[in-house]
Amino acid sequence: MIITVLLGILFQEAQSIRYQIQRHQTIMDPIHDIHQVEYRVQMQFGSQKQPMELIIDTGSSDLWIPSIDAKGFLNNVNRYDCKGSSTCINTHSSYSVFYDDGPISGTLVWDQVWMHNIKFNQSFLLIERASGNMASSGGILGLGFNSNAANPNPSILESLYQQKLISKKYFSLYLKDEGEFGSYILFGGIDMEFIQKDQKISYVPLISDTSYLMGIEGMSIDDELFSITTALVDSGTSCLTVPAVAMDDMLQVFAAKGVECSYRVENYAPSYCTVHCFVNATNEQGIIDSFPIIKIRVNSSFELLLNPQDYLYSCTILDGSQSKCNTKLERSQSDDILLLGDAFLHSYYTVFDQTDKQMGFAHSINNKGLKLHVKTRHLVNFAQMLILYIALLLVI
Ligand SMILES: *[C@@H]1O[C@H](CO)[C@@H](O)[C@H](O)[C@H]1NC(C)=O
Ligand SMILES: *[C@@H]1O[C@H](CO)[C@@H](O)[C@H](O)[C@H]1NC(C)=O
Ligand SMILES: *[C@@H]1O[C@H](CO)[C@@H](O)[C@H](O)[C@H]1NC(C)=O
Repeated sequence: MIITVLLGILFQEAQSIRYQIQRHQTIMDPIHDIHQVEYRVQMQFGSQKQPMELIIDTGSSDLWIPSIDAKGFLNNVNRYDCKGSSTCINTHSSYSVFYDDGPISGTLVWDQVWMHNIKFNQSFLLIERASGNMASSGGILGLGFNSNAANPNPSILESLYQQKLISKKYFSLYLKDEGEFGSYILFGGIDMEFIQKDQKISYVPLISDTSYLMGIEGMSIDDELFSITTALVDSGTSCLTVPAVAMDDMLQVFAAKGVECSYRVENYAPSYCTVHCFVNATNEQGIIDSFPIIKIRVNSSFELLLNPQDYLYSCTILDGSQSKCNTKLERSQSDDILLLGDAFLHSYYTVFDQTDKQMGFAHSINNKGLKLHVKTRHLVNFAQMLILYIALLLVI
């Protein structure tokens, strides 16, 4: 109790910057209920305070913003004009970074950057060429380690620290899974108001000096373990992306519990989660009771729990006996890395600590409050069509 109070006072006195995150949702396919969701912050660049929207990405380390000189793409996003800022210094040196969604390249500039009313001198990269899905994204705020960046100059987090705007190199994330507003990033602090009252933050050491990579034992259902050796906390990934072998084994356990899942092979959208499931239940409680609790096992004494409400995205009641649920799970072909994307960050308030090389986790206030979205598919049958048609004729 005394320790909690003391910590509370310490955190209040330490400098921190709280920043609002906007949840941006694009509907890719209304029939299959597929959305692309991104979490963005807005910052201002240059003497004219040009507003830019940046995707927050803990999986990369560079700050990119679209350049006014980018030809033939990035037409629907704000683009920064170095010549329009009296404080901009263009170094004319080129950099490129390969992301999972495609490459980006462009030049390095220095200018002043505004976060609310806080101004600091920052170097960043201008997007001049991009391909693949990167060609349609706006800016990117890489929150990873400086040592992993293409740009050799201080990252935003490093700049905030060096310019004494925060007293330790860390930040924490609270992401909501619905609504446009209400998500926050706090640089240099921890926001206890987003953590469940009975919870404390548990820390897991990083096994890398350059990324938010943790050593884990795997995922488990009941007492069955599906081995995975590492997990990366990545806000730039939407889903909980599970290595193929572990995912396949896990879905067999689902099947044994009466939940039949499969994954889409077609690529609807890069960030959509591909696993969907059929279950013999037709109401919210029935569905929740059918799905198992999934655990991410860090070690034998520490596990991160995901309830069905945490990893189910939405369910549709198909007929009198069955429902189809879209999950926030995705099967990955690559590596032995579990990607803890936004789907995970919805349930856990997460601390990214570069100074002490550790990740902190606590159940966020969402974890109890997530509501399962259940809807009924309405089929318009022939009789209803006929009545509609006659009604229309009568009106005319
Ligand atoms: C920002 O930093 C760069 C590199 O140190 C320097 O050349 C430039 O003058 C600085 N700009 C401002 C406005 O302080
Ligand atoms: C398990 O992980 C937790 C969280 O990082 C740590 O506090 C604990 O010491 C670890 N226990 C073992 C047995 O390694
Ligand atoms: C679910 O319902 C289908 C169709 O009625 C049936 O074939 C299947 O065995 C049921 N599954 C379970 C686990 O009850």
